[in-house]
Amino acid sequence: MIQVSPSLLSSDFTRLGEAVGIINRSRASMIHVDVMDGVFVPNISIGFPVISSINRVAEKPLDVHLMITDPGRYVSEVRDSGAWLMCVHYEACTHLHRVVSAIHDAGMKAGVALNPATPVEMLEEIIDDLDMVLIMSVNPGFGGQKFIPNTISKVKRTRNMIDRHNSGAIIEIDGGVDLNTAPALIEAGADVLVAGSFVFKSPDPAGAINALADLG
Ligand code: DX5
Ligand code: ZN
Repeated sequence: MIQVSPSLLSSDFTRLGEAVGIINRSRASMIHVDVMDGVFVPNISIGFPVISSINRVAEKPLDVHLMITDPGRYVSEVRDSGAWLMCVHYEACTHLHRVVSAIHDAGMKAGVALNPATPVEMLEEIIDDLDMVLIMSVNPGFGGQKFIPNTISKVKRTRNMIDRHNSGAIIEIDGGVDLNTAPALIEAGADVLVAGSFVFKSPDPAGAINALADLG
């Protein structure tokens, strides 16, 4: 069964509560929240006060994707703002094992994201400890970018690694996901589809979420 995690990044921020309401009433499994610091990625999005506000109206778990340098500094802030899962970038952590342990100690699920140029094999030593692997199918920083096709083989290799290790990690794909790109991702072994512009640039965001959910 495929799960959908709509990204609020492409929603109208003057009507964020309504966007959360649409997700609440849809077949989405979780809500994807993108945090950017202007250093790890060339864009700045939202921070903890906004995540806390989202959490007050959210009826689904918050899947918080941190595109920030040294995210281990903010584990308690992320937890206190209501995150169910804290996802950090492999490329942003010097001591990834320490950060993943701190996320678990704080009571959250732990995810690790990989940029398009980072091989999935970099997670071989930590896959047993992860709840989610996020494969970026665009370079992080912006919504509405073009899907990078090489992602399909990365998903297959991640699926193999997880199966070999008997790890409980699920595979999430983020970037350029729509009805054209999703079927091959599901076939390759993806568990969760993040979709931003496909959902919130659609005249019917709930219909777009449900159409992705119908694929699985
Ligand atoms: C991009 C973010 C994504 C973004 C995806 O850096 O991590 O979550 O919202 O947007 P789309 O689905 O438009 O590619
Ligand atoms: Zn994201």
